[in-house]
Amino acid sequence: MDGRAMDGRAMDGRAMDGRASPLVLARTKAELADARAGLDQRTGPVVLVPTMGALHSGHGTLLHAARALAGPDGSVVVSIFVNPLQFGPGEDLDRYPRTLDDDLAMCTDAGVSLVFAPSGAEMYPSGKPEVTVDPGSVGKVFEGQFRPGFFDGVLTVVLKLLHLTRPAIVVFGEKDAQQLALVRRMVSDTDLGIDVESVPTARDADGLATSSRNRYLSAAERTVALALPRALSAGQARAADGAAAVLSAAQEILRAQPALAVDYVAVVDPRTFTTVQPGHGGPALLVAAARVGGTRLIDNVPVVLPALPVGGSLSDAAAEGRARDAADD
Ligand code: PAJ
Repeated sequence: MDGRAMDGRAMDGRAMDGRASPLVLARTKAELADARAGLDQRTGPVVLVPTMGALHSGHGTLLHAARALAGPDGSVVVSIFVNPLQFGPGEDLDRYPRTLDDDLAMCTDAGVSLVFAPSGAEMYPSGKPEVTVDPGSVGKVFEGQFRPGFFDGVLTVVLKLLHLTRPAIVVFGEKDAQQLALVRRMVSDTDLGIDVESVPTARDADGLATSSRNRYLSAAERTVALALPRALSAGQARAADGAAAVLSAAQEILRAQPALAVDYVAVVDPRTFTTVQPGHGGPALLVAAARVGGTRLIDNVPVVLPALPVGGSLSDAAAEGRARDAADD
């Protein structure tokens, strides 16, 4: 096998059944194909976790979920690839953190069987691909508006990774909610037949969603950045009062921290990423993106909204209900 079996050091993982399972690192598609064929000997599912590396505790929750989904007879595959296709001009492609040794140690500890970490030339041997995935209308709003071409790049690489690793299940984080919605849509629109599972956002003790980009933040910038999760929790706390109350609670906190440059804050439908209509009831997401210094942060929280009469609030709805009851008497 061309794939390098990681042994020695801390690379000697143990499968859930207690058998030693050395991690295999595949740097090329050929090495991956070889190692992937070996996983077919096992009876359980192959579960893929696509990442750009610089793994942190948020990725850790995905690895843990993947390990549980794979079960004792299945295998976890992790891809580590900083995908140039999803970085715009002037974005942080060159300075994006690359920490392969630490990433491999974390994968070993998490019971991962196979890591695919190709070079750019290996993934895109003909340079920028001619044929890419068009994310459609959901790919053009919010993150897609602020990062043109971003979701075309994400979906194109995710589709390639799915073809190369052939998983039964792929795991994504809810932190990147629009990415998750678009991957789900791609998988269903193109009949890939892969189960897409999601994992809630992991946060540090101070509330900041863990992210590979957090390491760019100075201590002072981090304090500024904390207004983002604070705003989202303040919005979430007003869920019972409807979308307008959720949004204004979040905006109030963000306005109080002018050092945080807000790209957007909105209450959206989790599948279509359209801004919810006033009075909308049911599950929604409060999404936001903001910049501090040179670092861009995105975050979201789920909210369940009560159906409200248009332009009204929950107390109006209660009052209406009482008026209707009185009229029925
Ligand atoms: P990356 O930013 O490395 O994230 C890899 C996966 O980890 C994504 O599914 C992301 O949502 C999840 N994740 C990151 N931080 C998280 C947190 N705090 N809590 C829960 N999940 C978290 O997303 C990408 O890479 C790329 O766009 C990729 C899908 C790999 C395509 O290149």
